[in-house]
Amino acid sequence: MASAMAFSAAAPHLFLMEHVALHKTPGDVPPLQALRRAGPEDVDRIYEHLLRLSAGDRSLRFCGAVREPTLRRQAENVAAGYPAGLIACSFEPGEPVRGMIEIARIGAWAEVALSVETDWRGAGLAPAMMVAAARWARLRGVHVLEALTLPENGAMRGLGRKLGARSVVDDGMIRQKFDVDVLLRDEPALPAVEVGAHPVGPVAHLASVTNHRPADLHRAAA
Ligand SMILES: CC(C)(COP(=O)(O)OP(=O)(O)OC[C@H]1O[C@@H](n2cnc3c(N)ncnc32)[C@H](O)[C@@H]1OP(=O)(O)O)[C@@H](O)C(=O)NCCC(=O)NCCS
Repeated sequence: MASAMAFSAAAPHLFLMEHVALHKTPGDVPPLQALRRAGPEDVDRIYEHLLRLSAGDRSLRFCGAVREPTLRRQAENVAAGYPAGLIACSFEPGEPVRGMIEIARIGAWAEVALSVETDWRGAGLAPAMMVAAARWARLRGVHVLEALTLPENGAMRGLGRKLGARSVVDDGMIRQKFDVDVLLRDEPALPAVEVGAHPVGPVAHLASVTNHRPADLHRAAA
C-alpha cells in the first residue's frame, strides 16, 4: 500500500502533466494532488464527488440508477477501507475529490470501478488510476483487475483498448480484464505483502457497493 500511495508523491503534478501535454492544453485541467488512499476523514468529499457526477455518469459508474443514500453508503464504505479507494483531490478549498478508483478484492482477482469529474477528463487520470490500482493489487498478489462495464460506455471501452484489457461479454455486460503485470510492465516487481489474506466483506456489503452479482458472491465466499 505504501508503494501505491507513493505514486507521484515526489512530484504531485507531473503524472497529470504528461497526459495533459498529449490531450489537452496545459492549464485546461486544474491541478490535482497526488493520488492517495482514502480514509475515514474523506467520507464527505467522496460523497460530494459521487453527487457531482451527472445522472448518466452515475449510471455508467454503478451500472444502473442509484439514489443518494446509496451514494452516501458507498462513500462510507470506501472511507472505511472496503472497497479500498484511491482518490485524486484538487487544491481547491476543502480539497474536493475529483477522481477516484475503488478496488474490491475478490480472492485471486479484484474488481475496480472508477470515476473522473468532467472538468478533469481527457488528461490521463483514468489510466494513471488504473496503474496505481495495479500497484495496490500486485502488492497483494492479485494479478487481474476487472471492470464491469455497460456496453454503451464508450469511454471505458476506449480505456480498455488503450490499456490492453480483454473484454468478455457476460449477460449483457462487459467484463474488462486488465492484466496487472501488463499495466506494470515497466516497473520492477516488489514482494507481495499480503498474499493469502482475503479481506472480503459481508455479502450484502459487497453486493451494494460494487455491483457484484450472485456468481461473484459465491466466488468471494469460496
Ligand atoms: C471512464 C472515465 C473514468 C475516463 O476518465 P478520463 O480520466 O477522462 O480518461 P482519459 O481521458 O484519461 O482517457 C483514457 C483513455 O480512455 C479512452 N477514452 C476516454 N474517454 C473516452 C471517450 N469519451 N470515448 C472513447 N474513448 C475514451 C481513450 O482511449 C483515452 O485515451 P486517449 O485519450 O489516449 O485515446 C470517465 O469518463 C468517467 O468517469 N466516466 C463516468 C463513470 C464511468 O463510466 N466509470 C466507469 C465504470 S467502471
